[in-house]
Amino acid sequence: MAVRVVAAAPLLALVVTSAQQPPPPSVRYEQHVFAGGNPPPAGTLENPLAGDKRAAADGEKLFSAFNCDGCHALGAVGGQGPSLADGRWRYGGADGAIFQSIYYGRPRGMPAFGGVLPPEAIWRLVTYLQTLTPATDPATVSW
Ligand code: HEC
Repeated sequence: MAVRVVAAAPLLALVVTSAQQPPPPSVRYEQHVFAGGNPPPAGTLENPLAGDKRAAADGEKLFSAFNCDGCHALGAVGGQGPSLADGRWRYGGADGAIFQSIYYGRPRGMPAFGGVLPPEAIWRLVTYLQTLTPATDPATVSW
């Protein structure tokens, strides 16, 4: 446990109270169906750290430091919470969809981390999750 605390210490620099941060903008998901063909007036969210290896490594550390692995298991392969590594997404796998799953939480047991982690840290988690390569033949599991 002491080792984990030491390993997490540099990451604390990333964790400032989110009260100082403006909320993310309302989001439009391009993969949704728009009534009348008209998208709602909203922005899209794109991962500003996409493909950044260092951000992915930070995200992996945050994944342990914030106990994501307690529910999603080491490597995010799924445990009490669903697998985040099988390429299948209940709430969408677009940058903004994964961000919102973490920031606002999801109703069936996913805590909202937007109150304890700033958007910057959440993007690092998203970047990490996006590096996980789905198996070519993922098991069919109902989460
Ligand atoms: C208390 C257990 C728990 C913890 C801790 C937890 N999760 Fe979850 N997570 C869940 C559950 C359960 C779901 C499924 C929620 C649903 O279906 O509504 C979920 C869903 C998600 C999803 C959406 C998956 C999809 O298929 O669309 C993402 C992304 C996610 N979690 C990431 C994280 C990250 C990153 C952390 C750490 C910052 C984390 N979770 C911590 C339980 C947890």
